[in-house]
Amino acid sequence: MPEPVLIAAAWPYANAEIHVGNLTGSYLPADICARYHRLRGRQVLMVSGSDSHGTPITVRADAEGTTPIEVYKRFHEGFLELFVKTGLTYDLFTSTHTSNHFDISQKIFLALEKNGFLYKDSELQWYAPSLNRFLPDRYVEGTCYICGYENARSDQCDRCGSLLEPGKLINPRSKIDGAEPELRATEHYYLDLGKVEPDVVEFLEAREAYWRPNVLRQSLGQIKAVGLRGRPITRDLEWGIPVPIQGWEEKCLYVWFEAVIGYLSATVEWCKINGEPDEWREWWHNPDSKSFYFIGKDNIPFHAIIWPAELIGMKDTFDEMMGKDWKDPFVLPYDVPANEFMNLEGQKISGSRNWAVYGRDFLERYDPDPLRYYLTVNMPESKDTDWSWGDFLSRNNDELVATWGNLANRVLSFAYKHWEGVVPDPGELQQADKELLEKVEAGFDTVARELEAVRLRAAIGEAMSLASEVNKYLDQSAPWKEIKTDKQAAARTVYTALRAIDSLKVMFSPFLPFTSEKLNTYMGYSGQLFGEQKIELKKDELGEHSVLRYDPEKATGEWKPSALKAGQKLQQPQPLFKKLDKSIVEEERARLG
Ligand code: MF3
Ligand code: ZN
Repeated sequence: MPEPVLIAAAWPYANAEIHVGNLTGSYLPADICARYHRLRGRQVLMVSGSDSHGTPITVRADAEGTTPIEVYKRFHEGFLELFVKTGLTYDLFTSTHTSNHFDISQKIFLALEKNGFLYKDSELQWYAPSLNRFLPDRYVEGTCYICGYENARSDQCDRCGSLLEPGKLINPRSKIDGAEPELRATEHYYLDLGKVEPDVVEFLEAREAYWRPNVLRQSLGQIKAVGLRGRPITRDLEWGIPVPIQGWEEKCLYVWFEAVIGYLSATVEWCKINGEPDEWREWWHNPDSKSFYFIGKDNIPFHAIIWPAELIGMKDTFDEMMGKDWKDPFVLPYDVPANEFMNLEGQKISGSRNWAVYGRDFLERYDPDPLRYYLTVNMPESKDTDWSWGDFLSRNNDELVATWGNLANRVLSFAYKHWEGVVPDPGELQQADKELLEKVEAGFDTVARELEAVRLRAAIGEAMSLASEVNKYLDQSAPWKEIKTDKQAAARTVYTALRAIDSLKVMFSPFLPFTSEKLNTYMGYSGQLFGEQKIELKKDELGEHSVLRYDPEKATGEWKPSALKAGQKLQQPQPLFKKLDKSIVEEERARLG
């Protein structure tokens, strides 16, 4: 059985359009890694869905005078469209508003309760006297009591990343009317994080050697500095998953408590859809399984502390509730490669100020691979980065078009024209040819090493520098001159370059899947590298929900060097990328703000 790999991508809040910062922060790196591991023949499952509960959705519904369900559905449909167009190959992109997710979340709550990891306490919660109701965390902003940031949310500070304790915010104000809310007592269930702290620390210490410094700082560092305290996991809310305890049905599970459960519930949903209801065990209980969680830096504590704590605390009680007598522990996150943020033209991306480049809007005017390319070379892996249209233009024209696109296009066109549309017979390869192929083929190790460690900028940089090597080789051998005096020498050079390009196509394919498929066709292969994306409608007790599914059936791509044969019939090639005119820079900037 091939090694199971779980690719867990953050669940987008279904209350806002997805912009380039969201894409580069988590969804795109998740897809690149999913595609790479598939090429390696691993048993990949990439799951996510719309985070459809929580106050961001009710805030929007209130503002629009509509219902949370209407808001969630509208944005969810938009996500599916965007993910198809950007080539995000979720094995399942579902939603937290499904009966499967309700059921699993409630079971996990009950398992934690049974195992003694929950306790009840009453807390002070912000209450709006004018509205006669409790205010969810998101409705209250104020000054962070840890770092002094003035626009902290009442449950988490976006500047220092700390989880904030309820009621401790300085100068609180309601987001609805700016009024100062008052504190009132309300009873809630708490996750007893103090009890799992030693296990969480052990889990984190085992990953200290390879996790990103920022992720460690906001998990292990935070625990060592201040320790873990219980956190309320129920809320006075109507929109969400009811607390499965008699007398508590009026309250809901805290959205973060249940959203992270989505990784497991979506796996279960996928297995049910495939008619193998028990197969989720492969990703969640097989000790060989590796799970990668792709998230933005504001999500770190939930994925590096809370979710592992839930997995540790539910033990085999959850499995029992699912009718299984498996006794193996749950597989804890192998890596949580959280990204920093991407700004736009030097300013923070902001929907309300229209300072954003939205995925669907971008794709009205440009192709997906240039987007994926720019978001990869500029990915905020270790610090915040900036999307600038000038930089987008030059990266597209000077790197994607000039280095990789032109290389593929000029060699293919030349071969197609001079050897009657087939791969020329090289005769015996010479030293320089063999050296080039060795250098390029070594990329299957060097690029892989970076991809395994989720260093995607380094990975694509390595592939691009190999493309430059092929360009250098061609400039030296100059087959367009050779052909006039020695057609056999030209055939050898062109064959060598084609074979190098054929290998580079595979290395680039996780990043640039659309153009890699085209190139694969021009090279004369009949299969495709990857499978297909499909949108399907599912029904359950809660109603209908559409899902996105990746169908791997037609995928033939493999992470291995080209074995290109002389005589293979080529297809008439077309340029892979378009050179963009510099006028777009001003045009695009004018759309902002
Ligand atoms: N909705 C959150 C965000 O967009 C991410 C939730 S990830 C999950 O920041 F795992 F908790 F679902
Ligand atoms: Zn702070």
